[in-house]
Amino acid sequence: MTETVRAIQITRFGDPAEVIGNRQVPIPQPVDDEVLVRVRAASINPVDWKIAQGDYPPVGADKLPLVLGRDLAGTIEAVGTRAHYMLRHGDPVFAFIGQDRGAQSDYVVVRAVELVAMPAGLDFAEAAGAGLASMTAWQGLFDHGGLEAGQRVLVHGGAGGVGHLAVQLAKWKGATVFATASADDRDFVRSIGADTVIDYHAERFEEIATDCDLVFDTQGGAVQRRSFDCLKPGGMMVSTLEPLEDEAAARGLRIAPRYHAMPNAAQLGQVADLLAAGTIRVEVANRFAIGDFAAAYDDARHAHPRGKLVLTLD
Ligand SMILES: NC(=O)c1ccc[n+]([C@@H]2O[C@H](COP(=O)([O-])OP(=O)(O)OC[C@H]3O[C@@H](n4cnc5c(N)ncnc54)[C@H](OP(=O)(O)O)[C@@H]3O)[C@@H](O)[C@H]2O)c1
Repeated sequence: MTETVRAIQITRFGDPAEVIGNRQVPIPQPVDDEVLVRVRAASINPVDWKIAQGDYPPVGADKLPLVLGRDLAGTIEAVGTRAHYMLRHGDPVFAFIGQDRGAQSDYVVVRAVELVAMPAGLDFAEAAGAGLASMTAWQGLFDHGGLEAGQRVLVHGGAGGVGHLAVQLAKWKGATVFATASADDRDFVRSIGADTVIDYHAERFEEIATDCDLVFDTQGGAVQRRSFDCLKPGGMMVSTLEPLEDEAAARGLRIAPRYHAMPNAAQLGQVADLLAAGTIRVEVANRFAIGDFAAAYDDARHAHPRGKLVLTLD
């Protein structure tokens, strides 16, 4: 008989409250350069509930049923034939995995190139929260945005999952950081390194964050459109959502093409070093046992948590 494990899964698209379930799936087997990770924590990202709604075009009906989740932390349980020389049973690791698998399960197959050793001093929930969000921030700021020391950058949603890591990575790089946030998050966003925090409910960010070299947009739509006013000539717009290319062209400003963060163990290793050194940190707003997944997803969609929401698996 095939052994089964818990997994947060969808079998159809629809209202996340209805279609996301805690089901039993066969335990996966690692082959070649894959390892089997016993997951201790997996974070929730907006893409998880957007996929459940059928609002994420790269994941169509042909991918169902699908286990949700893109990032995790846990321990090595078993290794494929080509991974054994690097990794040992019980090693704590964290990972950002490809969208062909889901992280919110007791056991997950991870490619060796998707994981790195868990930084000392972090717990599983903090490490699980780092994967997708840190790679989105890193690749947006540095690979697509070309951010350099001494430049001025505006980060939207500075208290969010991606934004709070973007603020810290931009500061580490040596940039002057403007960040938008709600008033309740002002002290938090300042504490993680933003030079200027703008209450987006009460203030007009384009009047404060001026002459920026880079805008890192996590909101899209009207916020992105207004943000072109923050860029100096030659400035660059990078968005985690749909880039408004026509707007950029009309204003003669640069804009990065649509990007989806990709697993990258070399970059994740650099993030691990920064986490271990305490240069950056992961804020975990709340931890939910996997059995409480419905409340966790409800919070993720409606409660505007500070930093990350994480499912724990014991
Ligand atoms: N392209 C990619 O690879 C990629 C990767 C990751 C995420 N994303 C996308 O990027 C977006 C952000 O992801 P996330 O994980 O950071 O989400 P999140 O954790 O939910 O954070 C969103 C943040 O945006 C803030 N916000 C809401 N309205 C705002 C406004 N008008 N101006 C400025 N900030 C505002 C929220 O603050 P309040 O608490 O004040 O509401 C919250 O802190 C999502 O749409 C996600 O799907 C794309």
